[in-house]
Amino acid sequence: MSELLKKLEDTTAYIKKQYQGNISAGIILGSGLGNLTKELNIIKEISYSDIPHFPVSTVVGHSGKMIVAELGGKNVLVMSGRFHYYEGYDPQLITYPVRVMKQLGAQTLFLSNAAGGVNPGFKVGDLMIINDHISFFTPNPLIGKNEESLGTRFPDMTEPYSKDLIAKAKAIAKGAGYDVKEGVYVAVTGPTFETKAEYQLIKTIGADAVGMSTVQEVIVAKHGGMSVFAMSVITDIGIREDENVITHEEVLAAAKEAEPKLTTIFRKLIEGL
Ligand code: HPA
Repeated sequence: MSELLKKLEDTTAYIKKQYQGNISAGIILGSGLGNLTKELNIIKEISYSDIPHFPVSTVVGHSGKMIVAELGGKNVLVMSGRFHYYEGYDPQLITYPVRVMKQLGAQTLFLSNAAGGVNPGFKVGDLMIINDHISFFTPNPLIGKNEESLGTRFPDMTEPYSKDLIAKAKAIAKGAGYDVKEGVYVAVTGPTFETKAEYQLIKTIGADAVGMSTVQEVIVAKHGGMSVFAMSVITDIGIREDENVITHEEVLAAAKEAEPKLTTIFRKLIEGL
């Protein structure tokens, strides 16, 4: 048995000791977007530091625990705090929680993130449904020996984000009166925000938003055969002509403001699973 499979066995055995029920979906929450946890009926909370083979998150705004909970009538596994490439972790480690979710039965993965807008029609506080991504600036987490029992060597990526969930999310947003954008997310390594020239480049290659997460997790979820839905909160606009200095604090503040809408969309989508 491969090292990865052995680790997954250890991790899932540890979690199953604490929770024996089924899991319908996994949720990974982005910077400043942890408030969804307030809507959860918590069944079990497990600190990352207690979970075998789990890394520990180091970023301000990420609390670092796995929560088993009921949301929208379904049992979900929520990662409050994610792992980023800029923290120094291997892409395989960053995406390890997604493998764990799949092993525990999650068929769908929901992700949120804070992102910089490069679409001129976007403003700070907008929500964007991710309908495609560009992963070329960050290492692919599937590089290395392929574990055939987890997924195929060359996964298809023509529909990384579920068209069905996107359509449902748009209907939910419309019903609630939310103005929700849709677009392409580019993943970069961070931790620096982009230079003006880099934001221009990102816009030119066809992206609408840029951020430091999500894409590696989505690739591993698709490798494992999961359906994926992801949304960005636009926390800054990278292509403004005027002075546009971005701080982590501003990103967290903008995320906080848009969060209730995002939470509603996630909850209603999960209700409909
Ligand atoms: N660039 C990259 N990552 C980000 C940004 C940005 O402008 N805003 C929030 N996360």
